[in-house]
Amino acid sequence: MNRKKRILSGMRPTGKLHLGHLVGALENWVSLQDEYENYHLIADYHALTTDLDSSNVYQNSIDMLIDWLSVGLDPEKSPMFRQSQIKQHTELHLIFSMLITSARLERNPTVKDQVRDLNIENITYGHLGYPVLQSADILLYKGECVPVGDDQVPHIEITREIARKFNLQYGSVFPEPEPLLTRFPRLPGLDGSQKMSKSAGNTILISDEPDVVQKKMRSAVTDPLKIRKGDQGRPEICLVYTYHQKFNPTDTAEIASGCRSSALGCVGCKSKCATKIIEHLTPFREKRKYYEENKQVVLEILNEGEIKGRKVAEATMNEVRTVMGFG
Ligand code: TRP
Repeated sequence: MNRKKRILSGMRPTGKLHLGHLVGALENWVSLQDEYENYHLIADYHALTTDLDSSNVYQNSIDMLIDWLSVGLDPEKSPMFRQSQIKQHTELHLIFSMLITSARLERNPTVKDQVRDLNIENITYGHLGYPVLQSADILLYKGECVPVGDDQVPHIEITREIARKFNLQYGSVFPEPEPLLTRFPRLPGLDGSQKMSKSAGNTILISDEPDVVQKKMRSAVTDPLKIRKGDQGRPEICLVYTYHQKFNPTDTAEIASGCRSSALGCVGCKSKCATKIIEHLTPFREKRKYYEENKQVVLEILNEGEIKGRKVAEATMNEVRTVMGFG
């Protein structure tokens, strides 16, 4: 039998997760669990790049872990651990920071977008080096595949460059990882912007209760030219239609023709869509309830994940120090 390829992926713990995380990454993580060997990282040090106040980082990490477990990540198949608890991440980051120029990092479009969106006047050394730490995250586990949203592709390109440079200089230790994208790498936000994001306040959370989902969907932006039910709409430019494509795939033809012919109004269309999203989220809500009532189980899962992660990380760092000549 062929060896299973290895996945390493992660997220920053920025609070409760939303449908963008679910569709862009988490569903992929869950569906790949059997086919790959998986490691999943809570990138808690990375959270410092955009928020120096780390007083909530622990709670946010636990909340995110509960979201991961609720959507079906299985701790037996997918150990989950925090970056801050495995010190090899920072060690490998130091070494990798010598293998890439600051000019190369300054060209990273995802970091540029963050600087623009968050109005950052002077980027810190650590934020600029975000992809270098991410490279260490991935390569410490010799990750070959990285299932993420498309905004992460530039970071994975940097990871490949660092792996190549290291291997040429010191000997072949690392794979050159590849991104694995989903069919919807980016789910639009409720306000019509390209992406769901916490900072834009345009999200539906995985943990939202049914009435909240209905209410949020009522606020969703639709085709601006379709004002009354009798107006003809353009599903191809409507974010609610994109949600239907994702959460209600069997009815899309009917929804599209109803919208175009004006038989279907936006209010009814949104409510149908909300119902489908709620159906999709219901099993997750039930699992979440269990984990919220059994916090001890969650902490044990984390502890075991950290033991497994540390083992791999230690082995890789030993190899790195040896090939580099540190002994
Ligand atoms: N940059 C990712 C994000 O913003 C989080 C992350 C950190 C990550 N380390 C990683 C993703 C390693 C994939 C692999 O969501």
